[in-house]
Amino acid sequence: MSFSGLSLEGQVALVTGSARGIGAALAMGLAQAGADVAVSDMVDSLEVARDTQSKVEAEGVRSATYSLDVLDLPSIPRAIRKVVKDFGRLDVLVNNAGIRIKKAALEVTEADWDATVDTNLKGLFFCAQAAVRPMIDQGSGRIINIASQLAVVGMEDRAPYCASKAGVAGLTRVLALEWMKYGVTVNAIGPGPTDTPGLLAADPRTPDEVQTDLDYRMPLRRRMEPEELVGAAIYLASPSAGATTGHLLLVDGGWTAV
Ligand code: NAI
Repeated sequence: MSFSGLSLEGQVALVTGSARGIGAALAMGLAQAGADVAVSDMVDSLEVARDTQSKVEAEGVRSATYSLDVLDLPSIPRAIRKVVKDFGRLDVLVNNAGIRIKKAALEVTEADWDATVDTNLKGLFFCAQAAVRPMIDQGSGRIINIASQLAVVGMEDRAPYCASKAGVAGLTRVLALEWMKYGVTVNAIGPGPTDTPGLLAADPRTPDEVQTDLDYRMPLRRRMEPEELVGAAIYLASPSAGATTGHLLLVDGGWTAV
């Protein structure tokens, strides 16, 4: 039995921040579904990004690595133009690049705020704006924004992060409304806590403290693996999702069901 509605064969996807973590897993997953995948990250992470490129190529699809820093706005259209030139088209943008900061609201500085909101929300918007242009020319496209379960619920010590991710959910709905007429869908995925280098580096707690917290907040009672987000991304990128737009798909181990 075969169902072609989830195949990404013949499609070209670009994933921001795909050197490691969720971005790397999604780049691999889209490749496993048949897409050619452009890997991208900041200049300092390009060596690691090329490892992701090698893993993507091992799936039998085309790949290449691009320098795309979402805080460096001119680098965004430059990278996207290059992807379109190299691959001939752009069908899927996964807006994954993001940073986290854990600080009491009373301690948050302007620099903390700007770094978080500029990366997670402003950079994401300008990636979507640059990517939609070739998608409009093609008459089709898929934009997938990586938000968070913290787009819809609050968490102490996460003021700029929660604000940025709630902003991503709102922005997703607006872009969905504006771009459906071009055949472009815009959706978001809201992951719960997921084992990634970035998350682990930012968490100073002991394993016992982490487990107690997960038992309390998350029905799944463990952090997710990045690969547990792949199916959601393939679906939103796929021909099956042509009528799904403006949606925030929570994949959060039940966090927001509590
Ligand atoms: P990570 O820190 O392990 O990986 C993030 C990647 O983004 C890195 O490769 C990094 O170099 C890149 N990046 C950072 N700033 C960038 C910039 N200015 N331009 C381009 N690339 C940049 O993080 P993780 O956990 O894989 O997170 C990925 C996304 O998933 C983020 O948007 C994050 O907010 C979101 N998320 C993660 C969750 C988790 O528990 N790990 C939960 C919910 C959402």
